[in-house]
Amino acid sequence: MAVKARLLLAAAAWVCLSAAAAASAFHGVPTVAFDERFSPLFGDGNLVRSDDDRSVRLLLDRRSGSGFISSDYYLHGFFSASIKLPKDYTAGVVVAFYLSNGDVYEKTHDELDFEFLGSRWGGQWRVQTNVYGNGSTTRGREERYLLPFDPSLEAHRYSVLWAPTHIMHERTDQRVISCSFYVDDTPIREVIRHPDMGGDFPAKPMAVYATIWDGSAWATEGGKYKVNYKYAPFASEFTDLAVVGPRGDPVLRVPRRAGDGADQDLLGLMTADYAVMTPQKRAAMRAFRARQMTYTVCYDAVRYASGPFPECDNSDDERENLSAWGESKTVVMRPRGRGRRRGRKAGAGARARGGVASS
Ligand SMILES: *[C@@H]1O[C@H](CO)[C@@H](O)[C@H](O)[C@H]1NC(C)=O
Ligand SMILES: *[C@@H]1O[C@H](CO)[C@@H](O)[C@H](O)[C@H]1NC(C)=O
Repeated sequence: MAVKARLLLAAAAWVCLSAAAAASAFHGVPTVAFDERFSPLFGDGNLVRSDDDRSVRLLLDRRSGSGFISSDYYLHGFFSASIKLPKDYTAGVVVAFYLSNGDVYEKTHDELDFEFLGSRWGGQWRVQTNVYGNGSTTRGREERYLLPFDPSLEAHRYSVLWAPTHIMHERTDQRVISCSFYVDDTPIREVIRHPDMGGDFPAKPMAVYATIWDGSAWATEGGKYKVNYKYAPFASEFTDLAVVGPRGDPVLRVPRRAGDGADQDLLGLMTADYAVMTPQKRAAMRAFRARQMTYTVCYDAVRYASGPFPECDNSDDERENLSAWGESKTVVMRPRGRGRRRGRKAGAGARARGGVASS
């Protein structure tokens, strides 16, 4: 099937999914002005704030990428932005929206990532999610998806929820910690902390980052296609910025508000509509993954020969679908271990800060 036909099919499916999830919309989530919760991180003139300070454009040109960071660290929370990605030829370009504490913990950092990988064909961005805990950089937990829409045409909301949650079992009501990634109202990935994960799950306060940078070395078809600055500047736009959750002290690893205050923050988060994973949302997630996922470590027996990670919820059906047409969606493979991760101790932003535009 031609790529275009597939995208059309996927787009039709998206309309159904979105309709199904409409009841759980994020409309009620309070958004903030840039200045209330964020500050510029790098790229000076390539970070452009709107007059009302409620949206920010991050540009990448030959000179530099750009990025911003939250003024606080958060111990759990809901983090969200509507993002419009750069148009046209974007091979090698990476836009990232993520949480990290790599600046504080060089060797044992935690990270939750949304990374958007540009493509040679306008609009066909790949989305990658990842989860690291306590410096688990040799155990990358990547997943990649094709979006069922063109993310450069209009802004879509991308959200990360990192929170305690309740899992109902037959006999017990177990409290666990999970993180989930959302595209608009649809959860696309849920990682529930499994005891056997050990430290491989975020546990310390993290800051929120947004960056655009030159990922020529790996982002598009394994680095085959580099950033072409003929098409610069590459412009991404962030709006509807939302951060909800208890602020935390990154060094002491505790909430900033003592006792009751922190508990209330957390309770507010846990009981918010958007934080509750209903059976409907989980069904929408499964449908999204069946159609849109192009790669997940959970089925990568080559890379992880000793079997899937403990938190993987593998099913034979999903595996079949993935091999039937997952890889044929032109998977973007990332070089492992060496190279990228080494130069990236402090998360996606570190590399960008280290020197972008290495054209
Ligand atoms: C995190 O990593 C450090 C250093 O490798 C180790 O000493 C510590 O026990 C780990 N913590 C957890 C919770 O696994
Ligand atoms: C496999 O893919 C088809 C086509 O998108 C979908 O209808 C089906 O639900 C998927 N099955 C599973 C188990 O994910």
